[in-house]
Amino acid sequence: MKIAILGFGVVGSGAFEVLEGAGYEVKRVLDIRPHEELGDKLTSNYDDILNDNEISVVAEAIGGLEPAHTFVVKALKAKKHVVSSNKHLICTYYEELHALAMENGVTIRFTSSAGGGIPWLYNLRRSARCDEINKIMGIMNGTTNFILDAMISDGSDFDEVLKEAQRLGYAEANPSADIDGLDTARKTAISSSIAFNTIIKEENVDIFSLRFIKKCDIDYITTRLGMTVRYLGFGVKGEGGISAFVEPTCLPKNALESNVTKNNNMISLFGRDVGRLSFFGQGAGKYPTGSSLAQDVIDIVNGSCELEFAPCDIKVDNSACQRRYYIRTSANVNYDFFDKLEVIDSNKYIITKNITVSEMHRVANEIRALDENAFFAGIEE
Ligand code: HSE
Repeated sequence: MKIAILGFGVVGSGAFEVLEGAGYEVKRVLDIRPHEELGDKLTSNYDDILNDNEISVVAEAIGGLEPAHTFVVKALKAKKHVVSSNKHLICTYYEELHALAMENGVTIRFTSSAGGGIPWLYNLRRSARCDEINKIMGIMNGTTNFILDAMISDGSDFDEVLKEAQRLGYAEANPSADIDGLDTARKTAISSSIAFNTIIKEENVDIFSLRFIKKCDIDYITTRLGMTVRYLGFGVKGEGGISAFVEPTCLPKNALESNVTKNNNMISLFGRDVGRLSFFGQGAGKYPTGSSLAQDVIDIVNGSCELEFAPCDIKVDNSACQRRYYIRTSANVNYDFFDKLEVIDSNKYIITKNITVSEMHRVANEIRALDENAFFAGIEE
């Protein structure tokens, strides 16, 4: 089995080095940029890979939707196995790609698309084979964890730390995907799909942005509530369906997540039989993500070719999950689900009773219409 890598950027070049270093030959690399070190392995013509019958595994590390989608579809139709680190592609086209893989008797794997270097999806899928997963939750974005850790531990300013995260290469090209939650929502959708054997799309995931957090929130949460705050994705199985959401979340200071520092990630599953399993590590970067991509390739080369999961139809319903919330706003609001309300300077600090995720997100839009800087965080007891 010969291997091709599409894209020789950060992840593709990391996977190349890991695979060749472990003795697996990469026959071709597709990239439109010159890379002298690749010699005649480099091609800018995808047909050189598609028409090469020796190549049976294609590792996609281009990112984005196009041309990644077209290339992956062509590879599956040519009966080549596909491995991808591309969360946008998997989130958007999983159903189509899964069906194409089935039709053509090949597999599609995407362990590195959520959790970067952490073998999270691999182990989640493995657990889901014989256990019932009730919940997944975790820190799935290094940029936002880096920001929160710095704001809490040394009082740094949000915008300053975001610039530092960009300088260090953690943040997405458009950091809105990090701080407004789309990156975590995609990883939550993919993880929930595997955990609950269904297809959850990014648009099914309710999101509270992190961008409105201020020093006064950190002070209130850490001193008045005696908690800390992290940016978490959740997938929860309830009676009525699956809930999937991304929220800044107040946690006890001794929670495992509270002690995840810098740009690290930590994602957990809660299984009926196995209980809690937590996976900690680097969620991004050349060698962590490149090595995870390489591991999927090696699994296939070694004959482990089963599909990631066979989707069945389960509804996403964020009215099936309840929690308490922290709200900070200057708006003059009062709802009957408010439990405690404290006014400090011109801000109201509110702790709610238990309320459904969908109701809180609906009310948050009403509050934000009056106060665009209002901040909302779930409370994980
Ligand atoms: N920008 C992402 C992060 C990279 O900060 O975790 C990995 O998706």
